[in-house]
Order: sequence, then C-alpha cells, then structure tokens
Amino acid sequence: MQGLKRLEYRGYDSAGVALAAPGMDKIAVRKKAGRLVNLEKEIQRSPLPDATVAIGHTRWATNGEPSDVNAHPHMSADGHIALIHNGIIENANTLKFDLQAEGYTFVSGTDTEVAAKLLGKIANTIITETGHPDLFTAVRRMARMLSGAFTILAVDSRQPDIVVGARHDSPLVVGLGKGENFLGSDVAAFVAYTKDAMELGQDQAVCITNRSVTVTDFTGHEITDSHRFTVDWDASAAEKGGWPSFMDKEIHEDPAAVADTLLGRFAENGDIVLDEVRISPEVFRSIDKIIVVACGTASYAGMVAKYAIEHWVRIPVEVELAHEFRYRDPILTPRTLVVAISQSGETMDTLMALRHAREQGSRVLAICNTQGSSIPRESDAVLYTHAGPEIAVASTKAFVAQVVAAYLLGLYFAQVKGTMFRDEIHQIVKQLKAMPKKIQWVLDTQSEVVEKAAKRMLNARSFLFLGRHVGYPVAMEGALKLKEVAYTFTEGFAAGELKHGPIALVDEGEPVVVIVPSARGRNTLHNKVISGIEEVKARGAFTIVVAEEGDPDVERYADMVFWRPACPTLLSPLVDVVPLQMFAMDMATLKGYDVDKPRNLAKSVTVE
Ligand code: M6R
Repeated sequence: MQGLKRLEYRGYDSAGVALAAPGMDKIAVRKKAGRLVNLEKEIQRSPLPDATVAIGHTRWATNGEPSDVNAHPHMSADGHIALIHNGIIENANTLKFDLQAEGYTFVSGTDTEVAAKLLGKIANTIITETGHPDLFTAVRRMARMLSGAFTILAVDSRQPDIVVGARHDSPLVVGLGKGENFLGSDVAAFVAYTKDAMELGQDQAVCITNRSVTVTDFTGHEITDSHRFTVDWDASAAEKGGWPSFMDKEIHEDPAAVADTLLGRFAENGDIVLDEVRISPEVFRSIDKIIVVACGTASYAGMVAKYAIEHWVRIPVEVELAHEFRYRDPILTPRTLVVAISQSGETMDTLMALRHAREQGSRVLAICNTQGSSIPRESDAVLYTHAGPEIAVASTKAFVAQVVAAYLLGLYFAQVKGTMFRDEIHQIVKQLKAMPKKIQWVLDTQSEVVEKAAKRMLNARSFLFLGRHVGYPVAMEGALKLKEVAYTFTEGFAAGELKHGPIALVDEGEPVVVIVPSARGRNTLHNKVISGIEEVKARGAFTIVVAEEGDPDVERYADMVFWRPACPTLLSPLVDVVPLQMFAMDMATLKGYDVDKPRNLAKSVTVE
C-alpha cells in the first residue's frame, strides 16, 4: 500500500492488490474504483491474509471505464493467477474472440482481463506439458503473443514465492532489497525500502523471489548485464513534508531545482563540462540543426531553448510536439541533434519520436528528470535535470530545471563551436547562478498578490495569456497550468497574434495575463507588448501583468502586477513562470479542486 501511495500520481481512477502465500488455493484480491483510500477502506472492511508475494496497481483508464470490475488485478478463469497491466494490448479483441470461442467468459471491458485469461490458459497448458507450474515461462509465452505496449506483473497461488514481470514499450524497474525484492513502474514505488535499482530492457521478462532476480528475453535467454543504479533521492523527497499539496511544495522547490541542475557542471576554470553527455566535442561541432521533441510543459521548455540556443549558437532549432514529429517525415541527418525533453522519461509520444530520429541516423540527447527511465536509456546521451521527484501531475519545478538544462546545452554548444567568447559564456553562467535567489524573491514577495488575483478572478470563465519572444512559451505554460488544475478555458499565444484574431475574444472584464519583457536591452519588444496591453485594455480587459520590478509603463496600464526582479531577457522564463504556477495552484485550491491529481490526467503518459 505504501508503494501504491507513492505511485498514485501515475493514475488514480481505481486501485487493487492481489496476494499469494503458501497454502492459499486461490489468489486473494481486493480492488476498488476511485482513489487509493477507497481500496484502503475495502481492505479494512475485508482484511487480507498474510502473504509472501503481492502485486498492486493504480489505474489510469485506457479501455474500460473506471469501475470496481475494471480495476486491476484481473484473474485467470480458475482464480490461480492475478495480473496487472499498464499500456494498451492492441490485439486484445482478437485474443478475446479466440478465448470466447473456447468458452472463456469475461466480466470486464478491459484488455487486461484478456491477458489474465490468456495467461491462465497458458499456465495450465505448461502444467499439462511438464507436470509443474512455471509462471515465468507462461508470462514469456504470453508476452510473445501480445502486440501493443505493456508492462505486466503476475502472481500464481501455485508458486507463492515469485512475482513475474514483462515489459514492452512501457516502464518497469527492479528494486534490489535485502531478503526482499520489488518491481515498480518507477523507483518511487520502492525507494523507501531500497535505493538499489536495476533497469529492465525492452522485451525483457523478470522473475523475482525474496532472494533472487532473474532477467531473460522473451525467448528465455538469460540477461546478465542489466544496468544497476543507485536512486539519488530519498523517500522523504517524495513526501509532502508539511506542505498542503505536492504542487505547493514543488513550486517552492523551483530555486533548488535550478541550483541543483547547475551543480557539478563547471570545471575550475569556469568552462562547462557535461560529463554524462556521451557525445564527443567533434560530433557536437558537426551538428548543423537541432530538433527538440517533447510534449506539454516540456515542449514549452523546448521553445525557450530555441530562443536561447539560436541566439548563442547560431544554428537552427526546431521545436516539435513529439506526437506530430514522426508522422510528418521530418528531415533528419547524422548532423541533426534531436533533443528529447521529458520529466518522466516515459512519455510514449516522446519515446516514439526519438526512436524514429535514431532510425533515421540522427543522434538523440535526452533532457530528463528520471534515472533509469526509457527515454534516457534509449538516447545516445543524457543531461539529467536534478529537480528531484515531481509528484504533482502539473509540472512545475521540472520545467525550470528543463530550461536550465537547455541553457547549459546551448552554452556548451557555443563553447565547443566557438560561437561565443569564453568571457561571454562565463558571464551568462554567472547570471544563471544568480537565478535561484531571484526565483526565491518571487516566492517570498509575490505570493500575496498572486493569491489576491486568484481570489478576484475566481469566477472568470476564460483567460487569455500573451507573451512575446521567451515570454511566449511562458504564456503557453501559464495557460496550460490553469487549464490543467483549475479547469478553466485558457488560450496562450504570441502577443503579436492578438490583432490577427484573438482580440475578438476580449470583452468587458475578460482577464488577460501578459508577460512583459524588460525595457532594458530589448526596448522595442517591451514597447510592443505594452501596446498590446493598451489595446486589450481599451476593449475592457482586466489585465494581470508579469513585469520587471518598477516598470513605469506597466504600472500605468496593468490592473494587477506580478513583479520579477531584473534579469537578462533570455533567462527571464525562470522567474516569470513562477507566479503563473502559483496563480494556477491558488485558483484550483480556492475552487476546492485536488491540485495534485487533476481530473482525467496522469503524471506519465505511457500510451500514444
Ligand atoms: O514526463 P514528460 O515531461 O514527458 O511529460 C510531458 C507532458 O505530459 C507534461 O509536461 C504535461 O503537459 C504536464 N502535466 C503539464 O503540467
């Protein structure tokens, strides 16, 4: 139950557990629709026996509505086997049809039940063939019959000392304990018990007992070189630690996420050293185009990267939503670097995009927050963000960490390609190192006005978010946050587009949030955004503006202001996004919503 609690952010529309112990005839199962707390109540009502092995699941429905019957685990027809599954089994209907023809009946609307019934059938065939149960062989045999994406775990009451798993295009990590072993979708499931972990490769199966871990491919060949790693954060990092919500805690960790992502990335002479990036400087020098692939918040971090890297390195950077990427036949060469940005490292759309890029001969560098996850594992190189575990579904600290990693990548490029003077790079690094304090300033001084704005806007039915240059992705991100947790219709767009259509949406009292660049340096940009504010104001908009402390033009036109401390324009997304994160959280909290687990969403989107 502790493990499930830590994984609940990945899916929370139903939950269940299955247990086995010596002497038990059938598997013991409890499952319930809704949050984990419902399952806990069910177990209190109907306690479970002691057990030696168990599997548990929290679900984000892909097929079959969230209900008690559709919750996992699902059982084999004879009740000996229980199975849980992540992903989508694409040939489930065909398999089901065949099983039905043999007399099998189904109670749920899930593809998972098909796998459970199929596994039960295969397991019994093996018993007939060999005279004894062999769940490991049965799971591998079944895995070869499934198409689509799956992580499957199973237990069998006839072998109450093992848990068997298999994965294809869906995550599974092994936790190596003392006298106990674990399997989890991510390390959060077991980090309270062990920090020693092992990656499981694509198309591999695993059998754990309390003392052993055996990994094979789907044909049964043993794999002995699985990569082991030590989890670099404590279980306490995935606890609320007194904060009202994970989102609140994680927003307040923005400064640390930035500082920690910068840590250890500089030589004594100030040069950038990206040790974990296993791509040689020669290869870096040969790169003539970068394509960032990502989804959601990570794609907005990619858009910030485009502005910075193009400016510093003078090579074109495209940013592409990962799910669109491979379907448009992108131009990829060995001189293209594809940068896959992902907090979870498991987003299926991003994973598929990077696979496509590698197939076409391009190199892929992952910017990722999760050790041992699929995206860094399948990339040529990785630049880890050190934001620590992000539990709230809405991404906050991961965004600032991704932006910092992208800056580091851009500056490293500039260093190896010689497109900037060393002094210039060192100057930006110095400014970057000053950013955590500036973010802290926003957190310390702006939270009251942000909350006031949220209270005032509580009944607003829609919002427009405007920004230019790096303020544009910040506007998109601010709009996404509000949609995601406060369920408010928002539209984020480039301020220059206003007159090309969106201004028609502005009516008396329409809230418009504007990110205003500093008047220093890029004055034209500043003036143009100010003109945009005037234009919406003239049409009755209520303006909430993010701007540099003391900007006199802003004071004139804004109804409410979230101030930022002075900082270079290219680095300003790191501070500008912070009040917008708080604003979305405050709106959702005031509306009484669960900010950590917004409806319909899950933290890792492991299906396409
Ligand atoms: O784990 P990833 O960074 O790959 O996730 C990508 C998006 O699903 C994610 O950023 C999503 O948009 C967030 N929930 C936004 O807050």
